[in-house]
Amino acid sequence: MKLRKTVLVPFIAAATLLFSAPAALADTFKMAVGDAAGGTQWELGTAFAKIFNEKTGGKHKVELFPNGQLGDEQDTVNNAAMGLLDFSILAINNVTPFSPSVGVLTLPYVIQSAEDAKTLTQGAIGKELTENTTRDAGVRIVGWAYSGFRVLTNSNRPVKTLDDLKGLVIRVPKNEIMISTYQAWGVNPTPMSWAETFTALQQRVVDGQDNPYITIAAMKFNEVQKYITNIRYIFSLEPLIMSEQVFNSQSPDVQAAILEAGREATEHSFKYLLETEDQIRKDLTAKGMEISDPANDEKEWIEKATTSVWPKFYKSIGGKEKLDAVLQALGR
Ligand code: MLT
Repeated sequence: MKLRKTVLVPFIAAATLLFSAPAALADTFKMAVGDAAGGTQWELGTAFAKIFNEKTGGKHKVELFPNGQLGDEQDTVNNAAMGLLDFSILAINNVTPFSPSVGVLTLPYVIQSAEDAKTLTQGAIGKELTENTTRDAGVRIVGWAYSGFRVLTNSNRPVKTLDDLKGLVIRVPKNEIMISTYQAWGVNPTPMSWAETFTALQQRVVDGQDNPYITIAAMKFNEVQKYITNIRYIFSLEPLIMSEQVFNSQSPDVQAAILEAGREATEHSFKYLLETEDQIRKDLTAKGMEISDPANDEKEWIEKATTSVWPKFYKSIGGKEKLDAVLQALGR
């Protein structure tokens, strides 16, 4: 947890003086990163840390702890809400249990491109969801990592149709929307924390899971999974959240530096995805993974998921009109 220096505040006349304080007074924030170093979460976090440090004239540092060292992704939301942790980067699906309205971003097949993801997170809808999350979960979204579509992996066989999927044991995050989506596809998935997933795949407790290409590579899932199916049901957004308590205890200048660093790191994350995803897909193939497309342009998958899952979650996202507003913002 960041050390607060409230006792120093009366003695510091201006924020500029605060920023020019000697390195010995540097304040270090802790940032939990759910994934291993090397993925989009890490890229967002390191960009944020660098920009924030520059904007505060070296006064403030951010130390990153990858691989869930500071707790499973869902636990980090609680810890940040209680002021025990400063920052966390985690998948949006692991924020939804604490802030149900962000579920609109994980309703299957709502986001259909990286541009859609950018429109929603950086426009009026993103602003509203950020405010809701501060209110409901006690954490503030200060940036976004764009990680690409969550593709399905498994260790048993190529999967193209929903019939191929039947009988596979698939791990999903503890997220009702994702659980319901697999149920609509005819399987009962296994909800499991992110921290347990690699070992469960390795020990064949589960056959498969879904996550973006960049995450699969960062987590070395190619060592324990063989087949990829290019489903596009969820575009993975990974917010950088900050404890609202810790944010409120900062000076206005530091708060402004946090928000600006978050915006700039978000821009960086978007470019990073576009520049790296293709190469990562090729690297995974070179390492032995086999990639298939879902049969018939994914029609059956889309139909089953949207017709049965969307209506179940109207209430938790704040009403059907919230989804309508999202679709309208996306020009649909
Ligand atoms: C999950 O599957 O729980 C998350 O998407 C993992 C992640 O944050 O990359």
